[in-house]
Amino acid sequence: MVYTKEQMDKALALREEFKKYLNIGQEFLYLSEQDCMDTGTTDMEIIDATEQGMIGYSLKQLEMPAKIGIHPMPDSLMHAMPANLPEQYACGIKWGSNFPTNKAQFPDCIPTNCQILYNDALTGHLLSMMDASWITKVRTPATALVSIKHGANLDAKTFGMIGCGIQGRANVKMVENILKDLETIYVFDMFDAAMDALIAEAQPLVKAKIVKAESLEQLVRSSNVIVSALPIVHSPNPPVKAEWVSKGQTLVCLDCHTVYEDAVYKAADKYYVDSREQHELLEGYGYYPQGLPVITGETGELAAGVVPKRESPDELVVFNNVGMASEDMMCAKIIFERALKMGLGKKLPLWTSTKGL
Ligand SMILES: NC(=O)c1ccc[n+]([C@@H]2O[C@H](COP(=O)([O-])OP(=O)(O)OC[C@H]3O[C@@H](n4cnc5c(N)ncnc54)[C@H](O)[C@@H]3O)[C@@H](O)[C@H]2O)c1
Repeated sequence: MVYTKEQMDKALALREEFKKYLNIGQEFLYLSEQDCMDTGTTDMEIIDATEQGMIGYSLKQLEMPAKIGIHPMPDSLMHAMPANLPEQYACGIKWGSNFPTNKAQFPDCIPTNCQILYNDALTGHLLSMMDASWITKVRTPATALVSIKHGANLDAKTFGMIGCGIQGRANVKMVENILKDLETIYVFDMFDAAMDALIAEAQPLVKAKIVKAESLEQLVRSSNVIVSALPIVHSPNPPVKAEWVSKGQTLVCLDCHTVYEDAVYKAADKYYVDSREQHELLEGYGYYPQGLPVITGETGELAAGVVPKRESPDELVVFNNVGMASEDMMCAKIIFERALKMGLGKKLPLWTSTKGL
């Protein structure tokens, strides 16, 4: 997707601004996870940027192929995720991984690791290499919150978090940005210590009382809105029974079809995915052995108001968001531009020769 004249003019002006801080083509800005956090980017800025990334994708205002991946360890994934956002003068690629096997074999290594190469769309040069673990950590709950904002009953009093790892903790910490009337947050994990760690980290930051669910069944039966973030496995053995789920609930899956019996997805009154193309590709890889349900629309289409939305408080609404590079690049743009002006990170040489070309 090439730039229009108007987008080109905007990009050229912004590029001139960047050149005050960075010798483009000769050096790039390295940003660690801490540098990204030090930009002070707020939850709401991340949620809004993520929403724009989802809408821009669904309205075909940007270029983003379905992600491709490799799988070196059992149930691991390493995904290549490029996106080009002409309206924002933002482009690049995220290289993101999840290795559930780290827990047992390399306990000092977190399971999810990501980097972004952020480029100058006008020349292709590298502007920044940033650790994207923090971006992934916050933009993923943001996709859930965009889904909840447009698909859930916003007066929900109860929220359930299945999986209390990196994503579980981040989702719980951010949920009250959208669900403002929550009274109880139920959490469930196979490890007690993971639930304890979540409560210790998140309880000081949220008003609702965080409670360890006695069982997955209790969580599912008790929560108006549920987000799940368990390891995505190639051949899932879903632990949640269809009879535990009820009308009126909103279920947001950040882990494909890992958690619920197939009958739950098929019973949904509305079923949204972040990218049809991505999910059809995953179906081809065998991730949905019982087939994808009928898709009501993309989450970005729902946010843009171009596909049917929840029609009554009693509908069962399910989202399946596997994550998109457009969300990462929207967030990377904010972080790069802010970090550049704040003098964060480290400038490193590219060694690109400009002589003799
Ligand atoms: N959709 C997206 O955009 C996106 C982005 C990042 C991560 N993810 C996915 O989210 C999931 C979680 O990622 P994370 O970084 O939080 O991983 P994590 O390893 O930090 O957390 C996973 C948690 O699930 C728990 N768990 C594992 N199996 C369980 C089971 N059968 N029952 C109950 N608890 C169980 C683990 O104890 C752990 O606490 C992964 O599947 C990852 O690929 C999705």
